Amino acid sequence: MFEIKSRDACARICDWKIGKYKVKTPNIAIVVNPDKQIVTPRELKDIFGAEIIITNAYIIRNSKKAKEIEKDGMHKVYDWDGPIYTDSGTFQMYSHGSVKISPEETIAYQKKIGSDIITPLDLFTLPKDNSEIAEKKLADTLSRIDDARESVTSQDLVGPVQGGRFMELRAQAAQKVGKIGVDVFAIGGIVPLMEKYNFTKLIETVMTVKMNMPLNKPVHAFGCGHPMLFSLLTLLGVDLFDSAAYALYAEDRRYMTVNGTLKVDDISELPCNCPACSGKKPTDMKMRDIAMHNLYVTFQEIKTIRQAIVDGTLFELVEMRVRAHPALFDAYLRLLANEEYMGFMEKFDPMTKERAFFYTGSVSLDRPAVARVAKRLEERYVPPKGRNGYIVRSFERFAKSTKSSHFIVMDNIYGAVPSELLNMYPFGQTIVPSSVSQNLLCNSEKAINEYISSYKSYYPKFHILSKYKDTKELADFDKKPVDHILEARSILMYQYGKGAEKILTGDIKLEISRKTGRLRRIYIGAEILGTLRAEDGFFIPAGLGAERLMEVLPKPAYRVVVSDDAVPFVREGKSVFSKFVINADVDIRPYDEVLIVDSLDNLIGTGKCMLNPDEMMDFKEGVAVKTRLGFS
Ligand code: GUN
Ligand code: ZN
Repeated sequence: MFEIKSRDACARICDWKIGKYKVKTPNIAIVVNPDKQIVTPRELKDIFGAEIIITNAYIIRNSKKAKEIEKDGMHKVYDWDGPIYTDSGTFQMYSHGSVKISPEETIAYQKKIGSDIITPLDLFTLPKDNSEIAEKKLADTLSRIDDARESVTSQDLVGPVQGGRFMELRAQAAQKVGKIGVDVFAIGGIVPLMEKYNFTKLIETVMTVKMNMPLNKPVHAFGCGHPMLFSLLTLLGVDLFDSAAYALYAEDRRYMTVNGTLKVDDISELPCNCPACSGKKPTDMKMRDIAMHNLYVTFQEIKTIRQAIVDGTLFELVEMRVRAHPALFDAYLRLLANEEYMGFMEKFDPMTKERAFFYTGSVSLDRPAVARVAKRLEERYVPPKGRNGYIVRSFERFAKSTKSSHFIVMDNIYGAVPSELLNMYPFGQTIVPSSVSQNLLCNSEKAINEYISSYKSYYPKFHILSKYKDTKELADFDKKPVDHILEARSILMYQYGKGAEKILTGDIKLEISRKTGRLRRIYIGAEILGTLRAEDGFFIPAGLGAERLMEVLPKPAYRVVVSDDAVPFVREGKSVFSKFVINADVDIRPYDEVLIVDSLDNLIGTGKCMLNPDEMMDFKEGVAVKTRLGFS
């Protein structure tokens, strides 16, 4: 079972059940060598909090410990009470040329030694393999996975995705492995890409696999053990890494950092205070110290990434990490420039995030949240009619519209933004260095010209203001009451689409926060319609708001349809599990506020989506919608 708990971009924090064990992802499986334990599995658990280890069945079979492991099992011999992932020997084929084990033998052997996650003997496809070879290796790999699926029933099965440098083959591989039905998707044959710093091909490969596989399975990047790459690959949706590198590097006196690798003997001071480094000079570092340091950096980066996912700041982290090497930065720029990849990512990127959007450079402008804003404003927003339009610079973004005026902000990131949306994520939660803003003004100027030409029929007059505060005529606006109804109407449009504003009818009463002057609640007479969440300005419908949204939003907009079995539970306020979802509006994004309905489109609840509509169809486990209100 694999269940999403939190998310950012294509990254996700999941609970992954492997047999009787539970692992949190993203995570790293440290490679344990039966004959050479620089760090023991017990130490991995006690010192680093490791939850899963990976070891190689082929190496075990040829090791001095083989007899003991065959008799007592790996868990006992390794002194490890957690899931053990075994690789098959494929990688040894790559590094040593050949292996003396058959596909059937390796499966039987992995079962015998007590593996929890079993890997078939896939055929490692090299970047230099031509299309014929890659195709042949893929066909053989697929038939081996198929055979393994027959015999692996009580353990998890890995589906290695090969295909070499050919993206059509990678896509086919992901689809076919998906059809076979495996428990883990492992992207294979990528070690040579990482060794050669071909990060562009690495990203292409990962994205191609992600876009062609079921969404409810963990993804492992086979052989990726360098913390420099973890955040970027997590952003693309990789859930598991593995590291033999911590030890291999240590043997070579190479010292990992999140910005790349250093030769310990080339540095004058250790740039780290982990327990392995603390108080030592580079020359004091023994092999084990370096391995321990490498593990500290590795686990620390995994934790940093998980926190960034919860905070919604993974892009900020990635934008720092990719600066480690121009090849990595280049690969990232190419990812951002790829419309297909970014379009895919947009479907997974949450509508709202815990923390502000920090601008770290022009790359930030290519985040999916930015493209989404432009598209939404164009498709969903219409200005109010018959008011004078006042266009202000972003540093005057607190200009508020009144009954007779409409302020539009020239925002340097998002273009022409109606000022009444400025409390909403991401508009009000974006931080750009002020000197940078000046350089970006040309972008917003273009957006403003477009806005004016699209909507000139709505406004009797436009005023383009350079300095709001200095304009005497306009100082009066500060004294006039802010038009909060306009704000409510525009938020509804932006959040649910055109027409949603029609729920604002009748005896509308607004509750304004005394402290902040912001709109907090909307009532119709004495009954509450909904609340505006202080953090991100989103409208959270109350019962009346939800009923009215049902009336004004044409089916299937913003609905999640659940099967009859689930209806009584949702009515009681229980969350919607994905296996009960029978349909969901394609425009829904993670963390959207949605209407939960039965198969006859009767409203039964409201809630916050944890999954996007495609995921709701693929996932069989876990929560799809966290129910806020259940209606009986
Ligand atoms: N370890 C690193 N790359 C690979 C791969 O492609 N297949 C398997 N089975 N193990 C690997
Ligand atoms: Zn250290």
